[in-house]
Amino acid sequence: MPTKTTNSDTLLIDEPQETSPNAAVKPANETSTARSAAQAQELTIYVDGHFLPQSEAKVSVFDHGLLYGDGIFEGIRFYDGRVFRLEEHHDRLWDSARSICLDIPISKEEMTDALLETVRQNGLRDGYIRQVVTRGVGNLGLNPHQCKRPSIIIIAATIALYPEEVYRNGLTVVTCATRRMNAAALNPAVKSLNYLNNVMARIEANLAGADEALMLNDAGNVAECTADNVFVIKKGRIFTPPISAGALRGITRAVMFEIADELGLKITEAEITRHDVFVADECFLTGTGAEVIPVIKVDGRVIGTGKPGSITGRMIARFRELVREGGTPIYS
Ligand SMILES: Cc1ncc(COP(=O)(O)O)c(C=O)c1O
Repeated sequence: MPTKTTNSDTLLIDEPQETSPNAAVKPANETSTARSAAQAQELTIYVDGHFLPQSEAKVSVFDHGLLYGDGIFEGIRFYDGRVFRLEEHHDRLWDSARSICLDIPISKEEMTDALLETVRQNGLRDGYIRQVVTRGVGNLGLNPHQCKRPSIIIIAATIALYPEEVYRNGLTVVTCATRRMNAAALNPAVKSLNYLNNVMARIEANLAGADEALMLNDAGNVAECTADNVFVIKKGRIFTPPISAGALRGITRAVMFEIADELGLKITEAEITRHDVFVADECFLTGTGAEVIPVIKVDGRVIGTGKPGSITGRMIARFRELVREGGTPIYS
């Protein structure tokens, strides 16, 4: 199974090999060997109550999740056979649904069963779950009234972390011109399928040769990165933008508050400017995909000593213990 290993994408999911498009011109027995090898590598995907091989897991071209980005999602990790903070992810999923008037057609308990069974069907102990609820099949008009039943998709896969050296050496970040969406247009607290705002920021980071993009809000203050919350540390105190600045209510972000408490550190939610980031002693990002990762350069300015700082190191170390301490068991 090939693994994409560029260090600039936090959601690098191992992808099963596809059958070669030239398979038809190969000798018959070679073709069928190639096909069965590809099938053996296929993931099993949950779609609306069915567990399907990924080559058969499809949604309609009239699904408003595709046509309009009308839907919601969660990215969830599991470690050593246990799902990390499942309840929090489901609470956020249901909040996103309520906010956009989408009725998830199954209960939280049924969703949990489906999710755990999807991981089991793939025989995984460590990995990443993508849970998607689309508005469902409608017509070409955008009115969600046309969509009679939302669709649920659950994908469980392995995830390639940033290489370990990035956690030791840190990321480079650039501020992008694309502003985080204003809450009056579409509240960034909704984890919707409409991620074009973040994608545009990500493209800017790519074009600048950076690992991540720092997104500002309309007031020019720091909101978050494209898929991560942001923290800065100054003189031993940790600061992060409030949700009202345009940050997602990150599950990993909330874990940082718990860890800080345990370690006798204080996190303050505060307006943060680019200047505050430039003059910080340390900076780190948090997200389900990236976990806790240091930043050592922003817009060409070296952060602190240019090496991940000691508080960041302590937060990472404790986080790595914590994710293996609890969670919803998958195989019991
Ligand atoms: C825009 C955005 N901000 C922050 C985060 C981090 O949130 P969490 O820690 O819940 O993964 C994510 C990822 O889910 C995200 O997409």
